[in-house]
Amino acid sequence: MLRHHLVLPVSTGDLLIDPLPPITEREVLLSLVIPTYQERHNIAEIIQLLTLELDRSLPNDYELIVVDDDSPDRTWEVARDLYPQYPHLRVLRRTHERGLATAVVRGWQSATGQILGVIDADLQHPPAVLGKLWEAIASGADLAIASRNVEGGGVSEWSLLRRCLSRGAQLLGLLLLPETIGRVTDPMSGYFLLRRATIAGKVLSPIGYKILIEVIGRGDIGKIVEVGYEFQERQAGSSKVTARQYLEYIQHLLRLRMARSGRFLRFVAVGLSGLVVDMSLLYLLTDASTLALPLALGKLVAGESAIINNFLWNDRWTFADLVRTQTSRRQKFRRFLKFNLICLLGLTLSITLLNLIYNFVIRDRYIANFIAIVSVTLCNYWLNLKLSWRSTDSSAPPKIRT
Ligand code: GDD
Ligand code: MN
Repeated sequence: MLRHHLVLPVSTGDLLIDPLPPITEREVLLSLVIPTYQERHNIAEIIQLLTLELDRSLPNDYELIVVDDDSPDRTWEVARDLYPQYPHLRVLRRTHERGLATAVVRGWQSATGQILGVIDADLQHPPAVLGKLWEAIASGADLAIASRNVEGGGVSEWSLLRRCLSRGAQLLGLLLLPETIGRVTDPMSGYFLLRRATIAGKVLSPIGYKILIEVIGRGDIGKIVEVGYEFQERQAGSSKVTARQYLEYIQHLLRLRMARSGRFLRFVAVGLSGLVVDMSLLYLLTDASTLALPLALGKLVAGESAIINNFLWNDRWTFADLVRTQTSRRQKFRRFLKFNLICLLGLTLSITLLNLIYNFVIRDRYIANFIAIVSVTLCNYWLNLKLSWRSTDSSAPPKIRT
């Protein structure tokens, strides 16, 4: 068991969780992060309770990672002084960043477990629930969440205002990110376990407190299990939640919304630039007042020019994050061929649709062309995402054994 005697430095740069080191170097199965700010009066008790709980269910196969944001009450020092009693404890002291959600991710970056987790330090999340969360993961869940809103769940003496704010935040989330927030009953939970593989290799960028919506919004999360728990009253210290956290939550929702639909919006923007190229060349080549070439020939030249325009933009902008590991000329040319093939199929479909609509539905070539282009754009997006820009790099990171 590698012993960490010091308060450890924290990684900087992208919030990117690496896939596990080869299994031989791995230290533990579960890495549980405990984010702290001003928790000197709670930290010894939570470490003791977690150790009792995990020594029972995961003896010698877990680590507790305290991530303290340089608390003025020197929580990190109190935690570090616990090292002699707790061999599974590691303490990280952040001096260059602040914030609950990023603290959790920085803790996961230094974790060596295949299962990652987070629990608050202030004893409001009962450690006894860990056993049920672990059972859910062991039975195949990707994500096991302690929820206040399922059977056996609840909040202690929360004021009506705090209850309304929490529920209001959840409603707003359902409006902006239904496919994320709608998957769970307690998206605000800060107490859960997840398989590392679901977020490994993804650049996370949470804001504020809500690490769970970041995990569900950006991770490859399959089965989710929720376990009811009673949110406890704080024994010492106070909640750090202020109006700022609510604003950061809205910012976080908008950032995730853009990330999840941003790619499609970029693809549509590129498609629009291709529309301009296509339409302009169609006019220049086939209109009676210009070259008056046959419609199909003009469409072929206009269409291929638009395809080249769209590939260059999509490769550099829409799918740029997916080509980071595929930069060779050969890989780029392969992407162009696949893109071209998919778009030529789309062009054939588009010419067929154009002629069908023009001859049987609307006797206006430009409206018919527009309908044809929109219909083909949707299937082009899906096919290109799945085939042209998926990672074809054979050196992709090895699959993590579960
Ligand atoms: N490192 C770090 N940096 N830790 C922080 C920070 C920070 O900026 N802010 C808060 N923490 C730690 C606290 O020390 C505590 O351990 C935990 O994060 C929760 O902070 P609280 O201020 O007590 O939050 P809360 O009790 O109002 O709400 C908590 O529980 C809710 C239900 O699970 C948070 O976890 C919420 O995110 C969660 O929705
Ligand atoms: Mn709390």
